[in-house]
Amino acid sequence: MASLTALLAERIRLGGPVAVADFMAEALFHPELGYYTSREPFGAQGDFTTAPEISQMFGEMIGLWAIVAWQMLGSPERLVFVELGPGRGTLMSDMLRTIANVGACRAALEIWLVEASPRLAARQAQTLVGHDIHWAERFDDLPDGPMVLVANELFDALPIRQHVHHQGRWHERMVNLEAPGFAFTAGPHSRPDLPDALLDDAPDGAIAETCPAGRTLAAAIGARIARQPGLALVIDYGHPRSALGETLQAVSRHRFHPVLEAPGSADLTAHVDFEALAQAAMPARAWGTVTQGEFLKRLGIETRAALLAQAGGPKVSADIAGQLRRLIDSDEMGTLFKVLALAHPALPAPPGFVG
Ligand SMILES: C[S@@+](CC[C@H](N)C(=O)[O-])C[C@H]1O[C@@H](n2cnc3c(N)ncnc32)[C@H](O)[C@@H]1O
Repeated sequence: MASLTALLAERIRLGGPVAVADFMAEALFHPELGYYTSREPFGAQGDFTTAPEISQMFGEMIGLWAIVAWQMLGSPERLVFVELGPGRGTLMSDMLRTIANVGACRAALEIWLVEASPRLAARQAQTLVGHDIHWAERFDDLPDGPMVLVANELFDALPIRQHVHHQGRWHERMVNLEAPGFAFTAGPHSRPDLPDALLDDAPDGAIAETCPAGRTLAAAIGARIARQPGLALVIDYGHPRSALGETLQAVSRHRFHPVLEAPGSADLTAHVDFEALAQAAMPARAWGTVTQGEFLKRLGIETRAALLAQAGGPKVSADIAGQLRRLIDSDEMGTLFKVLALAHPALPAPPGFVG
């Protein structure tokens, strides 16, 4: 089969420039040649490392959060427990080990993984062997019932639209052919769905990003949570308030990579606009954002790290200290990553958030 570069080049030759969102969707999820459909992206041998792959402590803390969320919903006998974009299944595995400490909560879980990549779904099945797991390709396919949902680094992978400001007007940013590869170009007039105060005084060349797929998903989660009781936890890198600026990035082998080069070979992501997600999720109530470092500390990660360090020798102790630093320090993941909770409006503050 031809490369994804060749397929996209042919598409542009025949139909003209493609929107950034279309380029990103093809690069990540082309059925055979997309990044997530054809590669093993995680860990030291892959392209990037996510929080659950850094340390079991991350999933343990989120597992504790899920237990309290279940209690906040009245400890129902059946809970639809959902993870969106579960990667290798590591986070779910660590959460389930923690939740097993509360038998009635574990017994209530009907576990659903929402995963768009068949390859990664197979990987999740290996990690979670012995657990009764259901898969769905889309959030809308989940069954009814009280729900607790977790999404770590899912929203950054959803395709974004980019807009560029030129001589007082906003244009859709497109991808065109320009030897020897692809290049950005301004497309038709198109005003981004962002606050006027941000758009009207923008300088020439300013970039605005929106994530329609992220807003649609947040709206579906919010509508469900407001209808049937539920809580959702979204963890990702991004900004608490909508802002202008270009954040689209490609990463390969733990290094930044030119975003338009060799689509399908590198991870393509953009920072998450948490304000836009919270607005889209109304009438669900949004809590936060808080930084990942603050959130994990409020849930007790430092105590957990001390216990794990005590139980092992000096090598384990040094490893745990290193993992803790990566998860909570400001110059690591602690500040860049934010946590947003969405909850039924009648519920009090979820763990890790203040009223
Ligand atoms: C960056 S990985 C994060 C994996 C995992 N949550 C972790 O923290 O290690 C993104 C995950 O989301 C999945 N994904 C991306 N877009 C998706 C979509 N639209 N629907 C469902 N899963 C999606 C990917 O296949 C992958 O499993």
